[in-house]
Amino acid sequence: MDILHVSAECYPIAKIGGLADVVGALPKYQKKLNTTSNVVMPFYNNRFTQENNFEIVYENKLEMGKELFSFKVLKLSNNSLEFDLFCIDIPEFLYTGYVYSANDTERFLAFQIAVLDWLLSFEKKPDIIHVHDHHTGLIPFMITQSYKYESLKNIPTVFTIHNAQYQGWFSHKKVYLIPEFNFAKVGLLDWSSNINPLAAAIKCAWRVTTVSPSYMEELKQDANGLEDLLKHESEKCVGILNGIDWNVWNPKTDNYLISNYDSNNPVEGKKSNKEWLCQEFNLDKDKPLFAFIGRLVGEKGSDLFPEIFKRALAENDISILLLGSGNKETETQLNKLQEEKNYNSFIGYDERLSHIIYAGADFLLMPSRVEPCGLNQMYSLRYGTTPIVNTIGGLKDTVIDIDDDGFGICHNGVTIEKVTAAITKSNLFYKNQEEYLQNSKKIMLIDHSWNNSAQEYINLYKSLKK
Ligand code: ADP
Ligand code: GLC
Repeated sequence: MDILHVSAECYPIAKIGGLADVVGALPKYQKKLNTTSNVVMPFYNNRFTQENNFEIVYENKLEMGKELFSFKVLKLSNNSLEFDLFCIDIPEFLYTGYVYSANDTERFLAFQIAVLDWLLSFEKKPDIIHVHDHHTGLIPFMITQSYKYESLKNIPTVFTIHNAQYQGWFSHKKVYLIPEFNFAKVGLLDWSSNINPLAAAIKCAWRVTTVSPSYMEELKQDANGLEDLLKHESEKCVGILNGIDWNVWNPKTDNYLISNYDSNNPVEGKKSNKEWLCQEFNLDKDKPLFAFIGRLVGEKGSDLFPEIFKRALAENDISILLLGSGNKETETQLNKLQEEKNYNSFIGYDERLSHIIYAGADFLLMPSRVEPCGLNQMYSLRYGTTPIVNTIGGLKDTVIDIDDDGFGICHNGVTIEKVTAAITKSNLFYKNQEEYLQNSKKIMLIDHSWNNSAQEYINLYKSLKK
């Protein structure tokens, strides 16, 4: 079976969030299951593309509206990724230092049209086209409706929703950018009087998946306007829990760490990572360390952080460290909070630091209001760091509260009071060091590798075979 993933992000080439981690890991695990699984993504101007060699495997012109653009398909020359990586090079749109920006409609439409044009040239077409999030959501529509791609229309498409908050909608005035199709079918593109790539993908893909089972159920109640559509299409929808790359995220071999360790003896290794963090961020290494890593957006509950942190620090003898960026107002407030003792932050993105925090923190905070899956809690478990989560989406599917014979701290709902109470409960739990340590060892053994879910996807693809 030959699978092609189409995505805007892929680790380690370009990463904004968990989408990159998923697309950079799932193909590796699918390959182990006797399939060919490759990735096509935009060719951005970043460190990875500058430092690696690519060869041209295809060149053509793409027609978008009345304009013609040249594009190339570049293949990564070395095989460091364990799968074939193809990048679409359209200098006008994609060769930028960022992944997302204001003119994403044109950027990602050009990307998708180029991918389909390249596929027309394949002698043997892929058995499955697996597209991810709204940036690639028009592919299932174009493949089935645009005259130009008639020869591709029998290839099954799977669409994975990583986050339904972002839908990529744009005005019908831009419909001329989409390669010609029977206009009677324009309704397939529409939701609430806009062209909505996420909705179009839900309507046109052969199967729709979400990145956790609970998120699929939640979307039927709250999907930023798409609830009824998801209910209507529910027969072709299924939630498949994300996994993590067991090799990239392995405290025993992780090169980013100050000290490596495993579940037999995590104490010394975790301690030296914590000491490094505390020295670097001027925190007390003898206090329990609570951390947050992620995008500072409403979905992650980050607007409440300044108040939560103030209260939690006043009520508990703990330290807090934050790594993240996003909402400017929140960033400003968090910078101001640095005047508080026992708190520090790094406002920005730092892959290495994130690994050291997963290893060196005692608790990882995830008070998300929306969390389609969440990978941070799984990294945290793998590194022996107890997660504190709101019971929603993928967090609900992966973390069980210690009071229910589980291994994490769960709170039901995101308010300043609830999250502060969860921090206080965690602090009490930490005081019993023997119990805390047993828990650390236990959570490191929970298998969230992609092994199971990669197989679930293969089973899904197989059910689509003509
Ligand atoms: P989302 O995709 O919604 O942001 P996930 O939990 O699925 O959330 O994945 C987030 C990924 O991005 C994780 O790999 C996390 O470690 C990483 N990450 C988020 N913010 C930062 C940051 N500021 N620096 C380094 N890594 C980050
Ligand atoms: C999205 C979601 C996150 C999920 C990630 C990978 O960014 O917000 O919850 O883990 O995609 O699927």
